[in-house]
Amino acid sequence: MKWTAQSGERGSYILDLECGGAGQYSERGVMYSHDVVIVGSGLAGLRAAQELAGNLDVAIITKVYPSRSHSGAAQGGVAAALANMDGDSIEAHIYDTVKGSDFLGDQDAIEIMCNDAPRTIYEMEHLGCPFSRTDENKIAQRAFGGHSFLRACFSADRTGHALLHTLFEQTYKMGGKLQVYSEWYMTRLIVEDGVCKGVVAMDIATGRMEVFSAKVVLFASGGYGRSFEITSNAYANTGDGAIATYRAGLPLQDMEFVQFHPTGLYQHGILLSEAARGEGGYLLNGNGERFMDKYAPGKMELAPRDIVSRSEQTEINEGRGAGPDKDYVLLDLRHLGEAKILERLPQIYHLAKDFLGVDAVTDPVPTQPTAHYSMGGIPTDNDCQVILDETGAKVEGFFAAGECSCVSVHGANRLGTNSLLEALVFGRRAGKKILEAASTAKSSSIDEKREIAAVRAGIDKIVNTSAKEELHPIRKELKNVMTYKAGVYRSGSELAEAHKKVTELQERFKHVRVDDKRENFNTNMLEAIELGHMLEYSELIVAGAEAREESRGAHARTDFPTRDDEKWLNHTMAFRKGDGGYELKYRPVVITRFEPEERKY
Ligand code: FUM
Repeated sequence: MKWTAQSGERGSYILDLECGGAGQYSERGVMYSHDVVIVGSGLAGLRAAQELAGNLDVAIITKVYPSRSHSGAAQGGVAAALANMDGDSIEAHIYDTVKGSDFLGDQDAIEIMCNDAPRTIYEMEHLGCPFSRTDENKIAQRAFGGHSFLRACFSADRTGHALLHTLFEQTYKMGGKLQVYSEWYMTRLIVEDGVCKGVVAMDIATGRMEVFSAKVVLFASGGYGRSFEITSNAYANTGDGAIATYRAGLPLQDMEFVQFHPTGLYQHGILLSEAARGEGGYLLNGNGERFMDKYAPGKMELAPRDIVSRSEQTEINEGRGAGPDKDYVLLDLRHLGEAKILERLPQIYHLAKDFLGVDAVTDPVPTQPTAHYSMGGIPTDNDCQVILDETGAKVEGFFAAGECSCVSVHGANRLGTNSLLEALVFGRRAGKKILEAASTAKSSSIDEKREIAAVRAGIDKIVNTSAKEELHPIRKELKNVMTYKAGVYRSGSELAEAHKKVTELQERFKHVRVDDKRENFNTNMLEAIELGHMLEYSELIVAGAEAREESRGAHARTDFPTRDDEKWLNHTMAFRKGDGGYELKYRPVVITRFEPEERKY
């Protein structure tokens, strides 16, 4: 195993001495050239890299050190019908996922994911993931919302962390080339005439901007939850991949579908795993009532997340919340006992203690719905190749996997534990397909000066200016309006208000000022770039939600409270217009075996 600093390069390291990708002018006339550039180092990116490294010259560009990727924040489990605890079946997993998606998930993709789940789990086990075990030393499985069997394989309540570290360790074992540009920030995707040529990225430590040419680019860059005030998302989740894609003239799909997790730590939004309810935790309102019997009597606290979040919000809206402002509900774990809490749920025990000073062994924990997962994103086919338009035509040399993508296995509402699974299954599929695609891809030239100038121009506008607008108030107002007008419940008038506000903030952003003028570690400037992304995709969330006059999964319109399959059994596709505006188009959902039916729990 070698971890060798490339001469003269800060922030990039190689896993093989033979790597010659960086630091030499390539035939395309750019300094940085690789066969494959992967943007993002969470589960999807690392899993794809596993397929590719050693076969091709592969680089990962990541704005955070790989083991800090947001996959590590997933807590409660990864789904697979192993049937270690009961009579589960892959068929049941497929059906639960289709139903959970409120029939917006593409059923061919869902079948691929669920069929591949058991293999995926055993693969991760064999790579060294320390799954919790049963007494017979099988992988233990627990209950999770919307799953009809004990299907969540877990490592206590740190499953994402365990999986991420397992894959990260494996990258060191790989004999082939894998160059990691850590703390480099991808700022632009280069696509010309339907062909992807590479990306522009900045070394955060120096501010140096470089063009990376690649035969294939894979985005595995995570979700877009940061534009909400209450969110479980990492600071990094600012939709960078989605917006680079959109600005390159490609569509984004189903952006209006944002998942609210029912148990965010009150006021902080930090995830308190659904595993808490999987292990038997209750939800109580301010009157001490287990209110879920009114909303989902068959599943109670283990109904899917959209339903539980709405139930909590209804309790709060109707004055039955807990606390002085009646603005939260309580997660009650006391009856589980100290031993079980500390063995199965150690992380959430400590989160409640450290952030709220609540001891979950003796007291119920204040929680509220928190923006958790982006169902929408970059549309792809089942092998992760990015889709160019509503006809399903594809972009040559461009792939996406994991939360930044919309393949779409989650439809209008993701089931807990299906995201880690998706990242692993589709990360692998992307890797396999890219191996094929890169071997036939032709080289094409990039106008390096022009690409860098395009990024520099955007940065200059905010750094070299005497404009007066400050960054933080704009971000604060955006998060507020998205949470309270485009959140768990939405109405036409609230969405119109949100849209107006977002447009106004976009206008103010044009006059934003970055006080820090330095090149090196200019996080002030990075925050400004990220805010630009947040403002642009938030408009698409709101616009898609305004247009969709129905309620489906996580998209709950108070003025259109029912699902309308006649009109809305389709995916939204948002395209950027030349003037910076957008246009919405639609494409059909793939239905294979399960006709849409009323969703009851
Ligand atoms: O609640 C949780 O542990 C989250 C898991 C997930 O989003 O899949």
